[in-house]
Amino acid sequence: MNRIYFTTPIYYVNDTPHIGHAYTTVVTDILSRYFKLIGYESYFLTGTDEHGQKVQNKAKELDRDPQEYVNEMVIRFQEVWKELNIDYDQFIRTTDAFHVKGVQSALQALFDKGEIYATEYEGLYCVSEEIFYTSKDVTDGKCPQGHAVQSISEKNYFFKMSKYQTQLIAYIEAHPDFIRPDFRRNEVLGFLKKPLEDLCISRPKTRLSWGIELPFDSEYVTYVWFDALLNYATAVGYSNGTRQDEFKKRWPHACHIIGKDILNTHAVYWPCMLMALGLPLPQMIFAHGWWLTASNEKMSKSKGPVVKPLDMKNIVGTDPLRYFLARDIYLGNDAQFSQDLVITRVNSELANNLGNLLSRSSNLIEKFYGGEVPNVKESSPDTVQLAKVASSCAQKVKQEVLKFSPNTAIGHVVDLLTEANRYLEVRAPWKSAKTNLTEAAESLYAAMECLRIAAILLHPVMPTKMTELLSRLGWHKTPAFEDALHWGLLEAGAKVVKGDPLFPRYEIKADSGL
Ligand code: MSP
Repeated sequence: MNRIYFTTPIYYVNDTPHIGHAYTTVVTDILSRYFKLIGYESYFLTGTDEHGQKVQNKAKELDRDPQEYVNEMVIRFQEVWKELNIDYDQFIRTTDAFHVKGVQSALQALFDKGEIYATEYEGLYCVSEEIFYTSKDVTDGKCPQGHAVQSISEKNYFFKMSKYQTQLIAYIEAHPDFIRPDFRRNEVLGFLKKPLEDLCISRPKTRLSWGIELPFDSEYVTYVWFDALLNYATAVGYSNGTRQDEFKKRWPHACHIIGKDILNTHAVYWPCMLMALGLPLPQMIFAHGWWLTASNEKMSKSKGPVVKPLDMKNIVGTDPLRYFLARDIYLGNDAQFSQDLVITRVNSELANNLGNLLSRSSNLIEKFYGGEVPNVKESSPDTVQLAKVASSCAQKVKQEVLKFSPNTAIGHVVDLLTEANRYLEVRAPWKSAKTNLTEAAESLYAAMECLRIAAILLHPVMPTKMTELLSRLGWHKTPAFEDALHWGLLEAGAKVVKGDPLFPRYEIKADSGL
């Protein structure tokens, strides 16, 4: 069986989850569920990044012990993921003992090989990003992201990252799918045109004590990014003698889904670290874009307004929010987020397109066929044509999933539902049922089949609603890709449940502030 190992970035716990975090996690969940549907064995890791200056500062500000503080904060993330129906296989915390051990063993291995050395260093340090900059990156005392930097001079430990520059460029050039989308790959190659510097991987405890102690110098802790990136490997058994088989099984299949703001750490630091450790590189690093406000600003706590995922979820519900996050953005690009946009999308594609098809056909089935899937003997050419569109939909969805393009995968299902509504308009079973029950049965059966196939193919996006939809159609099997490839599987006599609208329509409220 094909394997894939999806990861999200691990989130800083000094922030409460906002729509940006929710997006990375929801889209990774949807991809993981889609890969499962098309027959992959998918493993899904998420977690929290709990060390570093920002967490230490925040805990100090609140007069709290950092461990106690992170223990409390991590629950906020886990609760939101539960509310958003995130089906991860593992949740890693960088304070987990096995991770701390794994990081220390990677550091020791690199130190023993001569890949890490100590030197006096003077640099311009950005506390907000925890990154050292060189003078050419800094303008008016600010880093490229606009945060103030401070000049620092101290002894530190360095990883010989520069020596991997040529090897990394060659690897990226030889593996076109390693960094995606393409324009991000070009960005990284552009960045690698400048000489790569060695990476400072330590912080003196006098300045930062909240981190993983260096195994070869107890006066220092590990730089938070060096610690955090290793989570992808320690989670699946790196350096753990008893989990070697698991590591071999998962590791080469890693697909890191990340935001574009953390591309260089993933596409440069991390591959160099793995090369130095003698480990294979991940299969793919996919950088997604940002959700922007109406004035095209990144939605984040430090800049502009933040939308809490649960605020939006409380308005439209979990599944419609998941649908919007996968549908309204082309994975890789930026897009705007607002309550109006969510509601507009939900109303047009879920309440109208899908919802109308379901309510019209289930109403008529209840009224004229005793609430049971009608028996159909023959198919006219327009039904045969619709059946063709429906049974080719699953393959189209699969192709888009393999391209990591959930929005276009969903688009194919939307097209099928539009086609089914058009077919019903033309055949008007609400009229024919009064005079010709056989003809109306054919139309309604076709509508039910389109809905069944659509529900299977949208199940990874909206697991709860699509399970409900399938059961309303009298289909009680676990959603399986194979069943979406074939037309005509609903059995005559299966009980159809009319129920309340599956997706209510929402009014746009001008003053919500979202
Ligand atoms: N802790 C590091 C990652 C370490 S991974 C080894 C980190 N954490 S974070 O809490 O800042 O989360 C960042 C993730 O949220 C990134 O993938 C980032 O792109 C995503 N988003 C934050 N705001 C965003 C938007 N407005 N839109 C989409 N995603 C953005 O970085």
